[in-house]
Amino acid sequence: MAHIQLKSISKSFGALEVIKGIDLEIRKGEFMVFVGPSGCGKSTLLRLISGLEQISSGALLFDGEQVNNLVPSKRGIAMVFQSYALYPHMTVYENMAFGMKLANTTKADMQARVRSAAQLLQIEHLLERLPKQLSGGQRQRVAIGRAIVRDPRVFLFDEPLSNLDAALRVQTRLEIAKLHHDMKEVTMVYVTHDQVEAMTLADRICVLRDGLVEQVGTPTELYERPKSLFVAGFIGSPKMNFLTDHFAAEFDCTTLGIRPEHIEVTDVENAVWQGTIIHTEDLGSDHFLFVDIGASEPFVVRQNGKLLGGIGDQLRLRPMAGLLHRFGADGRPVNGVGKENKSCVQQTQTIGDALGFSDKPF
Ligand SMILES: Nc1ncnc2c1ncn2[C@@H]1O[C@H](COP(=O)(O)OP(=O)(O)O)[C@@H](O)[C@H]1O
Ligand SMILES: [Mg+2]
Repeated sequence: MAHIQLKSISKSFGALEVIKGIDLEIRKGEFMVFVGPSGCGKSTLLRLISGLEQISSGALLFDGEQVNNLVPSKRGIAMVFQSYALYPHMTVYENMAFGMKLANTTKADMQARVRSAAQLLQIEHLLERLPKQLSGGQRQRVAIGRAIVRDPRVFLFDEPLSNLDAALRVQTRLEIAKLHHDMKEVTMVYVTHDQVEAMTLADRICVLRDGLVEQVGTPTELYERPKSLFVAGFIGSPKMNFLTDHFAAEFDCTTLGIRPEHIEVTDVENAVWQGTIIHTEDLGSDHFLFVDIGASEPFVVRQNGKLLGGIGDQLRLRPMAGLLHRFGADGRPVNGVGKENKSCVQQTQTIGDALGFSDKPF
């Protein structure tokens, strides 16, 4: 139940500066996800919040009170890591109660708290088992339960799903979402390199890049209005298509971005791009067409419903109205008015409108 403030937080290991001055507010009860490529500093930032690492400079506040020098056990936090680290010789119940034993909780209170956490996580039937008798997903739930019974005001997760197989990952992700729903007052900070996890769990996402905040916003904001090429390429699956050279020049930008789901198949008159299908992926509900339009990489087009073509077929394509992203040489969105393009003449919504930076037609 804490409001967390990071003020110009930096962290160096020797001469290596890993966190380079981060300002961020995490609201009470918010589910904040740190996302970014491997090595960008996600775990380090989480460990600074937990107190497992010492902050080099800046201030960390919980509910307005500076906690830079407070030991982890005094911060009211609970952490769940990628590896569950349960005690192998203790039952699930004992594993969950262990932290409270050390904290001198009464037996009745301890039992009540373990029961209630077990109920929340639907592991009541497992309380007498040993960790080796559990599946990976169940073990991770026990680890989460062990964190819950401590009644933390901040929950910190560091890639808790990355050791689970795909099906269990989805299931456990749902459970974590439910946990957030059931424990509304608890602030949650969650680290992942998986943008799907970030999009589905977060109230807000903080995209980190090389020790700095690249953009903070709701999943929808990041998806619709990425403030950089980096965020545009990181958020969304499959990835946004990027076109350069003459493809971008036609739209008065250095890089033109368009998501696979924002491209439609069209006729000769309205075509903006055309090319040959070189590969298809059929996922049942969705189809992905990989089209060679003469760019350096295949252009990925998502189609739902009936598949409109196979390998070798010619395809004419155009962007859906208002859903193009234009970036300049600096990797930032291009502001202002671009050259008129035949694809955009009959569009009702302007591209600038959709990106929220222009009131003039393209
Ligand atoms: N204890 C440490 N000592 C030295 N360098 C470290 C230490 N912990 C992390 N680093 C370095 O800090 C950078 C960020 O690491 P980390 O926060 O683990 O990244 P992420 O979790 O985003 O993958 C990496 O270059 C890593 O090698
Ligand atoms: Mg990490």
